[in-house]
Amino acid sequence: MGNAQLPISRVDVKGRALHTKAANTSKSTFASVLRAALLVFCIFALGARVFSNVIGINIREASESWLAFNDDFMAETCPQSSPISPSSELMAELDAEYATEEFKMYAVGSLSGAVQIPTQMYDDLKPPGQDPRWEIFGEMHAYLEKRFPLVHSKLQKTTVNLYALVYHWQGTDDTLKPMLLTAHQDVVPVEPLTWDEWVHPPFSGYYDGEWIWGRGSCDDKPGLISTLTSVEKLLEKGFQPKRSIVLAYGMDEERSGVAGATAIRDYLLPTYGEDAFSIIVDEGGGYSSRGDALMSSPAVAEKGKLDARVELSGPGGHSSVPPLHTTIGMLAKLITHIEANPHTVHLNRTSTYYKQLQCQAEYDPMMSGRMKKLIKRSLKSNKALKKLEEELASTDRMYPPLSGTTQAIDIIHGGVKSNALPENAYFIMNHRINTVSSVSDVKSHITETIGPLAVGMNLSVDAFGVQYGPFSTEAAYGHMQITDAYGTQLEPAPVTPTFGSGPYELLAGTIISSLSTSKRSDTPKKVFLAPSLSTGNTDTRHYWKLTKHIFRYGHTFGDDSYNGAHTVNEAMRADGLLEVIRFHTRLILNGHDSTLLE
Ligand SMILES: *[C@@H]1O[C@H](CO)[C@@H](O)[C@H](O)[C@H]1NC(C)=O
Ligand SMILES: *[C@@H]1O[C@H](CO)[C@@H](O)[C@H](O)[C@H]1NC(C)=O
Ligand SMILES: [Zn+2]
Repeated sequence: MGNAQLPISRVDVKGRALHTKAANTSKSTFASVLRAALLVFCIFALGARVFSNVIGINIREASESWLAFNDDFMAETCPQSSPISPSSELMAELDAEYATEEFKMYAVGSLSGAVQIPTQMYDDLKPPGQDPRWEIFGEMHAYLEKRFPLVHSKLQKTTVNLYALVYHWQGTDDTLKPMLLTAHQDVVPVEPLTWDEWVHPPFSGYYDGEWIWGRGSCDDKPGLISTLTSVEKLLEKGFQPKRSIVLAYGMDEERSGVAGATAIRDYLLPTYGEDAFSIIVDEGGGYSSRGDALMSSPAVAEKGKLDARVELSGPGGHSSVPPLHTTIGMLAKLITHIEANPHTVHLNRTSTYYKQLQCQAEYDPMMSGRMKKLIKRSLKSNKALKKLEEELASTDRMYPPLSGTTQAIDIIHGGVKSNALPENAYFIMNHRINTVSSVSDVKSHITETIGPLAVGMNLSVDAFGVQYGPFSTEAAYGHMQITDAYGTQLEPAPVTPTFGSGPYELLAGTIISSLSTSKRSDTPKKVFLAPSLSTGNTDTRHYWKLTKHIFRYGHTFGDDSYNGAHTVNEAMRADGLLEVIRFHTRLILNGHDSTLLE
């Protein structure tokens, strides 16, 4: 996953307060609309439960204590789903096999082998075929072919843009929309200066009896290996899905999927059609320990993005006769002003983050009673909502990123020589756009924040192609140009339907069943789902047209990651990898004949 997601998983790992988000609408009419919406919501969710019982979803695997807990989960603000276990005996057989030492070593070997292939991704790569640094992906393909022979003999494999992979597993019923499971083959590079800080070398794939070490062991080679392992094992058992299963693996997610996920999209769209998939499950959220409960957080929303470039140009000349302000000095003034005017942060009751807070208020044993009350009261009381905002603003560093648009000036450049006035200077400002906002909101904010200041400094202004202010370029002292720095602006992702929607119920039921049948602990923990917002982006940014039901969820446990991703000492606990495989296998078995999917 992209960098920006890390704070979420880190926060999960440490069990700190999580969520956030949105803006504040405080009208009593809004409150009554909300009440009505909640009622409809509730009826819907209830209907889904009844429906799932009618169609015979199998809940026999869940333990008594766990079920009892789940029955309390009928809260109207965050309805919980019923566990869904595969109806065939195959899962029991595979669960038994997955629990053996032999299988564990096989799975560990698969991930270790993948980690040993340094598929590092660089921002400056030329297109595939034009840059030798891509060739390592050929090695990855050869490795997968050797490691997963049945996948490669029984599925139809398509290579797109040389290194992205798509596998099609034909189902027996073509009227059912395929499921799409995705992951990425690439990893972020290892900073050479940090090489010595690794307990075991970053591309060793070393297994110390508990952890598998190396870059990619968490992000995202478990996703790649687990989905392929699940299919390989199911093929070995002679299983054939009713619904086709498609696997897609990008190769440059760590630089926004410009060559990989885009090519996958351009292949899948004409081949399968718009909205042709019943569900997409990609990397992303996982589950974390919350006291005696586990909180599972599939990301159902993803923030947007804009890298704005602000460039000033002005007269050059010898630095012995300088103006009062050089372009660099003016730039400094703009930057100071921008940082003094951040985007507003609000809790919006319609936002994913606010709903996640409601889920925690209902089920999270680690949340204080006072906080729970405040969150619940905020549903109807605008005063409580305001108080909640204040509380979060002062206690939770994730509150601003989860409930507003963030801005960060990450690059600055200007000047070439100490005795020459800088004719050009620029900075680049990264924005992560709130789900209830938009690219155009952010552009307006930038223009309105620094436009007047620039005009005051006698600059003509071109803001995203539109002239701002009174000055023409000729009449002004200098010029300010604001552009989308890399042409990569991205709207916030459409929010995936949750409670009461079939694909969500399928995913949630699969998660609950996977966790409640885990052999890792004698006492099954309580499990609750709290769908979340991702502050970073995944390859799914390119997949919006393929389905409305996109989930970013890798089923990794915070505690099974040694030190997070994108940093030194990335390592994955072997037992955690086994859980991911159990989850993906269940997901395929649950989904292939489920009426919860189209
Ligand atoms: C809350 O979010 C909705 C979209 O989900 C948006 O229409 C509304 O304007 C937002 N309210 C505020 C105060 O930002
Ligand atoms: C702006 O700069 C131009 C060019 O140096 C100059 O002719 C003009 O008088 C200035 N305008 C103001 C309002 O200072
Ligand atoms: Zn990733």
